[in-house]
Amino acid sequence: MRRQTKTLYSAPMRDLAAEIAEINAPLERDAPALFRALSPLGRRAFFPPDIPSQAAEARSATLNGTTGQITDGRGGAVRLPALAAAFGDLPGRDLDQALLYSPVEGLSEVRQRWREWQRRQAPAGVASSLPLVTAGLSHALSLAADLFGGEGRAVAIPQPFWGNYRQAFAMRTGARVLNGPAYVAGRYNPRAISDALAAVPAGEPAVALLNVPSNPGGYTPDREERRATVAALLDEAERRPLVVICDDAYAGLVFAPAIPRESLFWELAGVHPNLTAVKIDGATKEFSFFGGRVGFLTFAVEPDSEAARSLESKVKMLVRSSIGSPVASSQVILLQALRQEGIAAEVEAVRALLQGRYEALKGALEKVDRNLLTPLPFNSGCFALIELPEKLGLDSETVRRHLLAHHDTGLISIAPRYLRIAHCSVDAAALPELVRRLERAVAELV
Ligand SMILES: Cc1ncc(COP(=O)(O)O)c(C=O)c1O
Repeated sequence: MRRQTKTLYSAPMRDLAAEIAEINAPLERDAPALFRALSPLGRRAFFPPDIPSQAAEARSATLNGTTGQITDGRGGAVRLPALAAAFGDLPGRDLDQALLYSPVEGLSEVRQRWREWQRRQAPAGVASSLPLVTAGLSHALSLAADLFGGEGRAVAIPQPFWGNYRQAFAMRTGARVLNGPAYVAGRYNPRAISDALAAVPAGEPAVALLNVPSNPGGYTPDREERRATVAALLDEAERRPLVVICDDAYAGLVFAPAIPRESLFWELAGVHPNLTAVKIDGATKEFSFFGGRVGFLTFAVEPDSEAARSLESKVKMLVRSSIGSPVASSQVILLQALRQEGIAAEVEAVRALLQGRYEALKGALEKVDRNLLTPLPFNSGCFALIELPEKLGLDSETVRRHLLAHHDTGLISIAPRYLRIAHCSVDAAALPELVRRLERAVAELV
């Protein structure tokens, strides 16, 4: 009797081990440090040739009976008038794209145009892949955690940090978060990541999170600090495969003229064989499109390389198995902006608005009683961080609750003694009053 071939969905059973080996071979060959840093999930992930991949192959077929999306029979969307009307005068092809499924990797034109947007300040010759579209930056971070996190993996994060990193890496994948101080004696610490990794044995792969401009610090290193940051990361890469995730959520929101605005990704991409640079950015803050949930995940490899294809295959599997595919309609909305000639000026107008708030807050903080509040240096992004002097014996959560209960003012407390002010969401004229209330609240508690 002939043995029946088992099936994996509709495709004949393939030799999974062979498929995984095939997808991993270019990485083992061309990006060995990246390959060593992959998690077990990252190693076995690949995009199998089931529905989306077969549908992609049939995209230009005259008779396309591949996917379960309802079309007009010619590849266009069946438009519910009420939904279509909400898109206004969007051109027909864009409207179709907005209503139909996005490819798992994102709409091709969005990916191309975002790459151009990213690379407007990139030095020529630095490799960067075609960005993969994600559901906001949080999703891109969680994909990076799937690829490079995993049980016990060391993840270095300067402290204080955006709490969701812990969720994405430690809670979801079992990685161990290690911290180094983001500030030493009230100044930016370029060695925060090496400090965090000091006790990790040489040779053991690690992940580092580099968030510039930072949340919650609102800080971007100046030229000298930037040079020292890159030097410290290169030193660390001498000791181990190091994946540096550049979280560029607040890219471009820099308010001091002498501070470099370009992402550190461009200085890290391809500089050391042991250093894998990954860029995470998106429309959330850069285009003030918070509800759109369009983020991007970019690797420091040439777009047409075999390594890029392997990484794309892995990410597509992770996207397909978690959210199916990224939201098409918000990609199409972002596309309208990316096609616009004057888009850089519009983005600059938002930066200028925030600059006004930043200056109002900075001015107000210059006058505070340093015995009550210690503002940490800030020059960019959406936030400022205030430290409560240790000698007060006050914790930030007590101050936060008191501010809310007695001064009608909401701030974020970051244990043990930090308060984060999101100046991006307060009118410039109201910021001096916010600072007065904070100062008064602390005075009332000591
Ligand atoms: C540093 C940082 N990274 C990532 C994100 C997440 O961005 P998104 O809202 O697109 O998921 C945020 C949001 O606050 C952030 O502050």
